[in-house]
Amino acid sequence: MSSRIPMIIFLLLLLSAVSYSSPSPTNGSDTDLAALLAFKAQLADPLRVLATNWTPGTSFCHWFGVSCSRRRQRVTALSLPELPLVGSIAPHVGNLSFLSILNFTYANLTGSIPVQLGRLHRLRYLSLGGNSLSNDIPAALGNLTRLESLILASNQLSGQIPPEMLVHMHNLRKISLIGNDLSGQIPPGLFNNTPSLMIIQFGNNSLSGPIPHSIASLSKLEKKIKSGEDKAYVDPTDVVGHQRVSYHELVRATNSFSEENILGSGSFGKVFKGQISSGLVVAIKVIDMQLERAIQSFDAECRVLRMARHRNLIRILNTCSNLDFRALVLQYMPNGSLEMLLHGSESTRMRLGFLERLGIMLDVSMAMDYLHHEHYELVLHCDLKPSNVLFDEEMTAHVADFGIARLLLDGNSMTSVSMPGTVGYMAPEYGLLGKASRESDVFSYGIMLLEVFTGRRPTDSMFGAELTLRQWVQWAFPTDLHQVVGGSQLFQGSSLSSCSLDDGFLASVFELGLLCSSESPEERITMRDVVVTLKKIKAEYIKRITTTTSGSTHTN
Ligand SMILES: *[C@@H]1O[C@H](CO)[C@@H](O)[C@H](O)[C@H]1NC(C)=O
Ligand SMILES: *[C@@H]1O[C@H](CO)[C@@H](O)[C@H](O)[C@H]1NC(C)=O
Ligand SMILES: *[C@@H]1O[C@H](CO)[C@@H](O)[C@H](O)[C@H]1NC(C)=O
Ligand SMILES: *[C@@H]1O[C@H](CO)[C@@H](O)[C@H](O)[C@H]1NC(C)=O
Ligand SMILES: *[C@@H]1O[C@H](CO)[C@@H](O)[C@H](O)[C@H]1NC(C)=O
Ligand SMILES: *[C@@H]1O[C@H](CO)[C@@H](O)[C@H](O)[C@H]1NC(C)=O
Ligand SMILES: *[C@@H]1O[C@H](CO)[C@@H](O)[C@H](O)[C@H]1NC(C)=O
Repeated sequence: MSSRIPMIIFLLLLLSAVSYSSPSPTNGSDTDLAALLAFKAQLADPLRVLATNWTPGTSFCHWFGVSCSRRRQRVTALSLPELPLVGSIAPHVGNLSFLSILNFTYANLTGSIPVQLGRLHRLRYLSLGGNSLSNDIPAALGNLTRLESLILASNQLSGQIPPEMLVHMHNLRKISLIGNDLSGQIPPGLFNNTPSLMIIQFGNNSLSGPIPHSIASLSKLEKKIKSGEDKAYVDPTDVVGHQRVSYHELVRATNSFSEENILGSGSFGKVFKGQISSGLVVAIKVIDMQLERAIQSFDAECRVLRMARHRNLIRILNTCSNLDFRALVLQYMPNGSLEMLLHGSESTRMRLGFLERLGIMLDVSMAMDYLHHEHYELVLHCDLKPSNVLFDEEMTAHVADFGIARLLLDGNSMTSVSMPGTVGYMAPEYGLLGKASRESDVFSYGIMLLEVFTGRRPTDSMFGAELTLRQWVQWAFPTDLHQVVGGSQLFQGSSLSSCSLDDGFLASVFELGLLCSSESPEERITMRDVVVTLKKIKAEYIKRITTTTSGSTHTN
């Protein structure tokens, strides 16, 4: 005998000896039986399927809807879809430890999802869709590490999505929570460890906040399937439930697009004020259909833009499109634009101190940072200027008209005759070559920053080919800045603001504006860095004025 064979036999003997010498205290098969009986006991079963079929006379492996593993008499599937069971799910189901399929779709179930389901660690398919289950989704479902499909759609589940729920579900291919009462934000890290995900359905809930950008790294997501086809993937707009508004409703809301309702008109068409049937006052931007390019990808692009959610962005509430009409329904901003605030008539012009100006520009930079670096698809603004910064009731700044460029272009071409952009704010490379980029947005932002702190438009009559706003500031920087802020009201009525000049706060702001509006795109910094810099300036400024006003040494 070779010496290896006895060794293997010995090991096998040892293993079987171990398993015989310490048998599990309860027979797994009995546990399964007990679990099924407890499950049955909690249900009304009006069609009497369980009552007549799940009987002691037959092995439970032959019961209706039950499948077992062949070797061991253990339940591997429990499938009772579309059978009215009526009642709640017994926690004992969590004892069916060999279960890999649990299908209770459309089974008239009520009550909570038992946390014990989190113990079914062999589960690959779980559907509780189409019932009336309520309360929270148990965080313990996160223990179902082998899950491939998680379907809790069309119930009355509420609360938030447990943040860690999918962390260990590397094999998850489908998650559907559509049609519940879930609220709160989609946890930012939810999709960080779900490389296999193909289908996400979160629509018809009360979820809010941004879509996690990790969604962009899910390479298997069935992005190409359009929503509406029923193989539906995530249409990320599903998250909010996409409802298009009808043309007739918009006609009614705007009194047939009457002159009195016009809020303004821009390069893409007119904007109307209107009240939709829910009572909400909105702004309706009707896209000029002469811009033929607008037609092609309007719906797809709107879907991208509709997902943009940020405190400092105008929300796109709805869209309306048919053959010869395209409109965006937008959040209405009652308190005018930054343009009016800076240059409007005496009545609309507000006295703005250093801190207010800084706050507005910080808000704008945060919105732009979101569009450039956080939104799951890059959104360029292409027409950033003070008239596209609007204020809500609380005077919080919101960036408007972002991403309109997307609506005017088809995916491939980066240039177009109808590209947005405004003289004075357009980056040189964008103006000349039509090359839009994050950097060209940063340029416009930089010019705006200079405008906000000098009080001069880049198109002011004092500027021209020989002297631009930027050159003017550059010329005064850093020692003669008092010359360029003369036109603004920075110093009027605020005893504190001279410290913004003396202590170099204004110099820091102008330095940032100059950097952003550098001639060469490579020299400009990112919006992310703009946010960081402005926050730092703001914090130091606040620290400075609070220490100087509380101290008695301040003599200004
Ligand atoms: C344990 O399970 C087996 C099936 O694997 C079954 O035949 C047996 O009757 C069960 N009960 C006990 C007490 O062993
Ligand atoms: C679960 O039940 C639903 C509804 O009958 C059915 O469409 C689905 O294919 C079932 N899934 C599995 C894995 O049995
Ligand atoms: C099965 O589950 C129920 C409820 O979760 C529990 O009370 C019971 O003791 C468990 N174990 C067995 C062996 O039935
Ligand atoms: C089950 O639910 C459906 C709708 O979800 C309802 O029409 C039906 O009457 C219910 N059946 C029972 C037996 O409660
Ligand atoms: C499941 O997960 C929870 C936390 O989510 C944990 O506390 C628990 O021990 C895990 N195990 C089971 C069997 O629920
Ligand atoms: C979502 O809501 C819309 C409108 O209320 C409805 O038509 C649709 O059937 C719902 N979808 C689901 C899956 O609940
Ligand atoms: C903003 O608008 C609201 C409502 O239209 C108005 O009551 C408020 O005075 C405005 N605030 C400012 C600062 O203009």
